[in-house]
Amino acid sequence: MHADGPYQVNFLVFEASLRKDSFNARLATLASQVIEQNGGSVDRAHIIDFDCPSYDGDVEGTEGIPTGAQVFRQRLLKADAFVLASPEYNASMPGVVKNLIDWTSRFVPQPFKGKQAMLMSASPSMAGGNRGLWALRIPLEHLGTRVYPDMFSLAQAHQAFGEGGRIADAKLQTWFETNIKCFMDLVEAAKHFPAIKTQWVEFLGERPDGATERVETQDVAA
Ligand code: FNR
Repeated sequence: MHADGPYQVNFLVFEASLRKDSFNARLATLASQVIEQNGGSVDRAHIIDFDCPSYDGDVEGTEGIPTGAQVFRQRLLKADAFVLASPEYNASMPGVVKNLIDWTSRFVPQPFKGKQAMLMSASPSMAGGNRGLWALRIPLEHLGTRVYPDMFSLAQAHQAFGEGGRIADAKLQTWFETNIKCFMDLVEAAKHFPAIKTQWVEFLGERPDGATERVETQDVAA
């Protein structure tokens, strides 16, 4: 709920971990609850829903883009924004999510352009996986996704969750909720004033060359 009533925004929410007891899955579920409590709607997904073989240009040439990326594209296009809770592996993002981004970037028009995104992470470490999110920003922003500046990284995640899947520290839980509500405000504003979404040029400033350039000047439609 914001000052003028309930939010009219829908979110694709998923985690970039395949692990059954994933902390990032727990964080994604908590984010979904906060969105719904504030009147937004959620399509809760898991990265296994978008499972793809390792990117291979020859496979793309002979078989096309795999089903997992096709499903992801559809669900992405139906959403106003996506929320991704991603583990940090070796100070970067897990290969499974980079592979999904790479496959999905092959659609024309490419569906990341103009999407709003919020990144979050959870890790048993003190930094909460935050370095992985900085790495994740790079391909997403390259593809024209508007990645929200504030990224929530839950440190010492193995001890951080409490009753009902909430964050045990009440102040931290409030910061988490406020961050999401601020993001929901932005998503709703961007939905009504979409002018910034009209152009994506993969390499701005590079001499135009019809053979290689990727330029999209229309909104991506489902
Ligand atoms: C990790 N982990 C980890 N954690 C971290 O904070 N920084 C790091 O660089 C890494 N690197 C790393 C590499 C690999 C290969 C693995 C398997 C793990 C620990 C990681 O944060 C931990 O396993 C989390 O629990 C993974 O997230 P999920 O699966 O709980 O969501």
